[in-house]
Amino acid sequence: MSEQQTEPAETDVSIGEKLVELAKRRGYFFQSSGAYGGVGGFYTFGPQGAALKGNVEDAWRDRFAVAEGNMEIDAPTIMPEPVFEASGHLDGFDDMLVECPDCGESHRADHVVEDNTEYEDAESLPIPEVEEVIAEYELVCPNCGAGLAGQAVETFNLMFGTNIGPGDSQPGYLRPETAQGIFVEFPRLKEYARNQLPFGVSQIGRAYRNEISPRRSIIRTREFTQAELEFFIDPETDEPDLSAVADVEVRLYPASEQNAEDGEEIRTTIGDAVAEGILASPWVAYFLGVAKRWYDAVGVDMDRFRFRQHLSGERAHYASDCWDAEGELDGNWIELAGFSDRGDYDLSKHAAHSEDRFTVFRQYDEPKTVERATVDPDMSYLGPEFGGDAQAVVSELETLAGRDRSAFEGDSVTIDLDGESHELPTEKTGFAVEEQTEAGEHIIPHVIEPSFGVDRLVYTVLHHAYREDEVDGEDRTYLELDPEVAPTVVGVFPLQNDDELEATANDIVADLRDAGLSVTYDDSGNIGRRYRRQDEVGTPFCVTVDYETLENEATTVTVRERDTTAQKRLPVSDLPELMADLRAGELAFADLDGENES
Ligand code: GAP
Repeated sequence: MSEQQTEPAETDVSIGEKLVELAKRRGYFFQSSGAYGGVGGFYTFGPQGAALKGNVEDAWRDRFAVAEGNMEIDAPTIMPEPVFEASGHLDGFDDMLVECPDCGESHRADHVVEDNTEYEDAESLPIPEVEEVIAEYELVCPNCGAGLAGQAVETFNLMFGTNIGPGDSQPGYLRPETAQGIFVEFPRLKEYARNQLPFGVSQIGRAYRNEISPRRSIIRTREFTQAELEFFIDPETDEPDLSAVADVEVRLYPASEQNAEDGEEIRTTIGDAVAEGILASPWVAYFLGVAKRWYDAVGVDMDRFRFRQHLSGERAHYASDCWDAEGELDGNWIELAGFSDRGDYDLSKHAAHSEDRFTVFRQYDEPKTVERATVDPDMSYLGPEFGGDAQAVVSELETLAGRDRSAFEGDSVTIDLDGESHELPTEKTGFAVEEQTEAGEHIIPHVIEPSFGVDRLVYTVLHHAYREDEVDGEDRTYLELDPEVAPTVVGVFPLQNDDELEATANDIVADLRDAGLSVTYDDSGNIGRRYRRQDEVGTPFCVTVDYETLENEATTVTVRERDTTAQKRLPVSDLPELMADLRAGELAFADLDGENES
C-alpha cells in the first residue's frame, strides 16, 4: 500500500477535454438522451455530479439565504406570456444568428466574430457592423468551412415557448432566468417581509435558453440551474454593512481599464474599491465581497478568479451596472455569475403591466405637510354625459390633476379617452388643491441581483481541482475537491474477499452513514486500483480493513488521504467523529494522532 508523489505529468490535451472524459467515465455529467443520439445543450448529472451539485447548492443556500437572513422560494418554471411582455424578454432577449449557406448549421454571429478576429465584445456591436466584420475578415462556417460573407445576421429570441393547456389560447414560456418567478410575486413577498426594506428573496432552480450554439459541455447549455438572490432596497436610505467585507482582496477589471489601450486588472480590497469609486454601488460591492469568500470556500482557485465589469453595450436590458465573477479555464475567462444593479426596472414594468402593487411604504422621519391636487367630479353631470365611460373619465381627471394642475385653470378641462378628446366644464370636476399631512410615500424598491450559474460552477470546481501526478511509478489522476463539497467523503475497502473483513467493512460503512457521511463500499479489484478509482472521483479519504483490524478488541484501520496519499492507523471507534471533523475542515489529516504507515 506504499505510495509516493512525484512531479505532475505534462500533456498536450487540455484539462477541459480530460475532464469531460473523466466526468462521463466516473458519473459526473454526460450528454443526455444518448440512446437516441444525444441532443445538444442538455446534460445529465450522474451520481457523483448530482451529489457535488447538491453540495454546492446547499453551500450557496447556507451563505446567501440562511446566513444573510433572506427568504427562499420555489416558483414554477413555466410562466404566462404577459410576464415576459412586461419583463422585456419577449422583445429583447435575443442573440445574433448567422446560418451557413452550405451545411445549414446556425451559429452565434458574435461568437464567430470573437473566435476569429481581435473583437472581444462583438455582442455589443450593431447587426450591420457584425455583417461587415464577417465580410471583411472573410469568416467561415465553423462546421463546414463555407464562407459566411453576405449571409444575413438575424436576431433570435432565446426563450422556449409552449402552450398552457389545450389549444393555443394561452401561450407560455419556460423561464429564461429564475428571477422573474420572484419579481411577479413581489406584492405577496413584501407582506412576508412585513413591508420592511431591505429584504432578499433567493431561489435555486432551472432556467431555459434555446442557445443557438451550446458549447463546452455544461458551460453553455439549454437547460441549467441558477442560484439567484433578488435583494430589494430603498436606494435613498438603505446601506450595506461594508465593514463585513472591506478587507476582502479582489482582482477587478473595470470597464474603463478594458477600454484603455494599456488597461489592466486592479488588485485592491472591496473597501478601497468603493472609496476610490471603482465599485459605484456599495450593495454590488458588498455581494462581490461575500461571493469572493464563498467561491474560495467551495474550491474555485483564487489565482484564476476575477470580477470584470460589463462594458456599456454588453449589459442586459434591465441592468444599469453589472460585474461578472469570472473563472479561468484552459486560458479562457468564463462568466460564473453576474452581480447587477437592476434599479427599479423589473418592479416598475410589472406594476405597469399588472393590477398589483409593486411598491413599499417609506415612512418619513417626521410627517410632512404637502399640497395635493384632488378632484371630486359631479357624477350627476358625468353619468348622463358619458354613460358607461363615466368612471374612466374620473380616472383621467385624477391622473391629470396629479400631473398638470394648470389644465384646470380655465373654464373647461380637456381629457383624452381612448384617443378621443372631450371637454367638460371645470366646475363639474370638483378640482381643489388641499394641504395634506402625510406619514410617508409609496416607493418602488430597487433590486441588487447576485445571479450564480450552478452548472458552470460545478465545472469550474472540477477543472480547478484536476491534478495529475505519479504514485508508485504509475500515472495518477485525482480531483483535489474540498471534503465539504466532495460527492463521496469516504471509501471503505476490505483488503481481500474474506467474509470477516467484508462484514467489518460493512459495519464501518453503516456507522459512517449514521454519522451523516456519504460513503462508498468497494471490494472489486486490487487495493491500488480501488484507490485510483476514488482518487478520480475526488473522494478525500479511504479506509482499508485488513487482518490487523480483526486481531484485537480496540481495532484499527488504515486511513489514507487522497492528496498526499499519506496513511495513518486509526481506531475504528473514532472514525465517525474524525471523518465528520475532517469533512467540516475542523481537523487536518496531518494533525491526526494515529500511527503513520507507509
Ligand atoms: N437573472 C440574471 C441572469 O440570468 P445571466 O448573466 O444571463 O443573468 C446568470 O445568467 C448566470 O447563469 C451566468 O453567470 C451563468 O453562470 C449562468 N448561465 C447563463 N446562461 C447559461 C447557459 N446557457 N448555460 C449554463 N449556464 C448559464
